[in-house]
Amino acid sequence: MAIQSSQRFVPRGDVIASLNFYCPPPDNTVPFNNAGDPIPGQPLRNYSDVSHPVKIKDIRGSEECFNNLDRDSFAVIRNVPPSAEKSFTDDASIAANYYPEVESLLLASIPGAHTVTIFDHTIRRTNPDAPRAPVQRVHVDQTPRSTALRVRRHASDDAAAEKLLAGRYRIVNVWRPLNEGPVESFPLAFASASSLEDDDVVPIEHRYASGYKGETAGIRFNERQKWYYLSGMTGDERLLLQCFDSEALKEGSAVQGGRVPHSAFDHPDTKPDAVGRESIEVRALVFGP
Ligand code: OGA
Ligand code: FE
Repeated sequence: MAIQSSQRFVPRGDVIASLNFYCPPPDNTVPFNNAGDPIPGQPLRNYSDVSHPVKIKDIRGSEECFNNLDRDSFAVIRNVPPSAEKSFTDDASIAANYYPEVESLLLASIPGAHTVTIFDHTIRRTNPDAPRAPVQRVHVDQTPRSTALRVRRHASDDAAAEKLLAGRYRIVNVWRPLNEGPVESFPLAFASASSLEDDDVVPIEHRYASGYKGETAGIRFNERQKWYYLSGMTGDERLLLQCFDSEALKEGSAVQGGRVPHSAFDHPDTKPDAVGRESIEVRALVFGP
């Protein structure tokens, strides 16, 4: 029997919750994790997590104060029209129907952006059979090094890559829930990039079976980080999560870090029978101005 939406419970308000932060390998070796299926005889990763309670502020009701990517590296977009994609179950259909909408959204919401190249997406569902679940580990998806590698991978040749790398280039994830109603469990927490210090960010080798090495970042706990979430997110809302902005590396730049640490978290007010969170994040290279 379908449960009436009036009986549903959406956890809201400022909250103290535990987030899992980076804890270095005991032997001080280079931190790594293996992408994809575990390699027999090898650990999935050589570093671990340390959990810290943090204050996470609910920005529901003050969404319009959070539209400054240069300051926070995250932004809230509301009232997005329904997608042409309905089921979000078929990758080719998602690329055909949803990617163009994401591209238009990014071009419209990032001043001066002139080119968007979408390079992948991840669907997450909370049920135990789902290939990908919410990630309960604070991270940034990309580092300066892996972003430059991405640009090279998607440029037509070396000369085109150098030209793109000489301009402003970023990676931005566009995150949205896929639940029918508002998100009831495992909301996403994100900290303002302006509250993150360089020493909080630890590059982690992301090793592929092919030998290719990408890089993600683990985040050390620091009490100066300012954490937020948007309670009860709905399907007509989007979060922009910026992973890298080349402008942030320039001396005297107005861009404060350019990267947003984020993690799903177990909201302490979530009911045991809450609907599992479902979401999609689309990852894009954004060029310009
Ligand atoms: C992301 C991400 C985790 C989640 O969008 O980059 O890490 O739980 N998402 O949705
Ligand atoms: Fe991420």
